[in-house]
Amino acid sequence: MKRLDDFRLKLGKDELVPIMIGGMGVDISTAELALVAARLGGIGHISDAMVHDVSDRRFDTSYIKEKTRQYKYNINNSDKSEVKFDLAHLAEATRLHVGKTMEAKQGKGMIFVNCMEKLTMNAPKETLKVRLEAALDAGIDGITMSAGLHLGSFALIADHPRFREAKLGIIVSSLRALQLFLRKNAKLNRLPDYVIVEGPLAGGHLGFGLDWAEYDLQTIITEIHHWLKEEKLDIPLIAAGGIFTGSDAVSFLENGAAGVQVATRFTVTKECGLPDKVKQEYFKASEEDIQVNQISPTGYPMRMLKNTPAIGDGIRPGCESYGYLLDGNGNCAYITSYNREVAAHPDAKKISVMDKTCLCTHMRNFNCWTCGHLTYKLKDTTNKLEDGSYQILTAEHVFKDYQFSTDNQIALPEKE
Ligand SMILES: Cc1cc2nc3c(=O)[nH]c(=O)nc-3n(C[C@H](O)[C@H](O)[C@H](O)COP(=O)(O)O)c2cc1C
Repeated sequence: MKRLDDFRLKLGKDELVPIMIGGMGVDISTAELALVAARLGGIGHISDAMVHDVSDRRFDTSYIKEKTRQYKYNINNSDKSEVKFDLAHLAEATRLHVGKTMEAKQGKGMIFVNCMEKLTMNAPKETLKVRLEAALDAGIDGITMSAGLHLGSFALIADHPRFREAKLGIIVSSLRALQLFLRKNAKLNRLPDYVIVEGPLAGGHLGFGLDWAEYDLQTIITEIHHWLKEEKLDIPLIAAGGIFTGSDAVSFLENGAAGVQVATRFTVTKECGLPDKVKQEYFKASEEDIQVNQISPTGYPMRMLKNTPAIGDGIRPGCESYGYLLDGNGNCAYITSYNREVAAHPDAKKISVMDKTCLCTHMRNFNCWTCGHLTYKLKDTTNKLEDGSYQILTAEHVFKDYQFSTDNQIALPEKE
């Protein structure tokens, strides 16, 4: 019986333990979490979502305060088109976050940044270019282009000196999406170094509709794997979504994948950025407590715990401070829903908005509890303590469990 450690992920000349810890914004996949993966020879992701806020919290900068001060006059205005990002600040914050993480890196593994392209920031192309270039400047090992995949993102950095040296990857959920991306980028003569194929059981935003349950990750991997072979394209596929044990991972590696990307099992580790109280909510969840809904203003379905505080909350849109989801015209679906409810309940002190949520504010405050479908199994990965809570794990423990376990076994941690 094989273990995941019997395989290696080859990215160019580099050979890695075939485990990637997926990007989890906003600072849920922290630098500390990513650094463990790199130290143990795998790949860890940080995320550049709401990077100003991450920088303010970690490095004592005050980007958000300054932006709020600058746009304070607009707080009661439903038109947010004037709320723009200062590109120099965006570059600085990205360089800080990425640079400090890279400085701390030890071991033979790698650190990538997850760049969620749906964060259109009221100037999609300009802000994306700055984010990507600043990450490359700061020495990131690789960039994973995620949700909202911008078909032109590689072209935005084609002139950067590290364009052909840093690892660049994309996340897709179908062969069609991959074909579109490759066709659009053919001129650049630069293939992705890896393609993460994310299936319907993943956490965060999904590349599927509400019919997600009709799709199956292995089927999609097989289809993409065959097509790549036919086209004589040698791009490693990384399977993601619902891979819960080392044996699950081995099965994908024996059937077309070169590595796995995992996230949910790391949400309950010490290094994960979620507050401990929220980690306990993830442990406690049962299958019925998890839903896929459409409250994300991005337009993509998102999986989360049903008791997520963000659901139904009717706070004033926080765009003057954040505004990461503003499209190129300064619109966000939450603003529309919020304005509708305010107009319908003019005398109410507090309103509820059920169809959309102010995702920036709630992700920032760890009040949107997005999670993978198999979150309900997390309780089986640890010890229940005397006070009824669950023992928080270490990232090293979970990583090694994926790496060395066989027979679908999950190693419990030593009891505290
Ligand atoms: C809490 C959480 C937050 C996530 N946030 C992001 C994100 O910001 N960007 C992204 O591309 N994927 C995100 N994901 C998806 C993961 O990176 C990963 O691909 C997926 O969850 C793997 O499946 P698993 O959670 O079943 O292991 C998130 C997943 C979780 C659990």
